[in-house]
Amino acid sequence: MAEKLIQRTFVMLKPDAVQRGIVGNIITRIENAGLKIVGMKQSWADSEFSKKHYSDHVQKPFYKGLEEFITSGPVIAMVVEGIMAVEIVRKMVGSTEPRKALPGTIRGDFAHHAYEYADKKGIAIKNLIHASDSEENAKKEISLWFKDDELHTYKTVHEMHVF
Ligand code: CDP
Ligand code: MG
Repeated sequence: MAEKLIQRTFVMLKPDAVQRGIVGNIITRIENAGLKIVGMKQSWADSEFSKKHYSDHVQKPFYKGLEEFITSGPVIAMVVEGIMAVEIVRKMVGSTEPRKALPGTIRGDFAHHAYEYADKKGIAIKNLIHASDSEENAKKEISLWFKDDELHTYKTVHEMHVF
């Protein structure tokens, strides 16, 4: 069934995106691709919540800086729906290190941070956006960040041209 290819993915605009005032620019890219926003809120994660969201990274050397970064201000949490949305949004986001992220990607166009610089300063890579890396992780992250009644099913006016 073609409908099985329609996925939901979790997207978070990190504190640097909110504080730089480029949330609108980033969301526009998601809308321009014909993806549908089915949940969105502003939220300020604390240390405990950060450890849940980044449970795979808690033991890694960069986690301390990552937690400081992600809890440093409010984020925009979103659930985005579309055909193979997990893969599509990761493609739009680009590589983790903005220095290497290609032009045309969100991290490549709006940031230029590098591992070498971040590591020397003992801070996280400031790369604006998180997106789930698999359908399994998308499901976990969506249920961590959103209650069922915060997610919405509706039709966009241009849906007939996309689906
Ligand atoms: O976000 P993405 O899935 O591309 O990368 P990740 O490997 O899952 O790492 C999560 C986040 O940790 C990154 O987006 C960076 O903000 C941060 N990070 C870092 O500061 N230094 C590293 N060496 C690796 C990741
Ligand atoms: Mg990741």
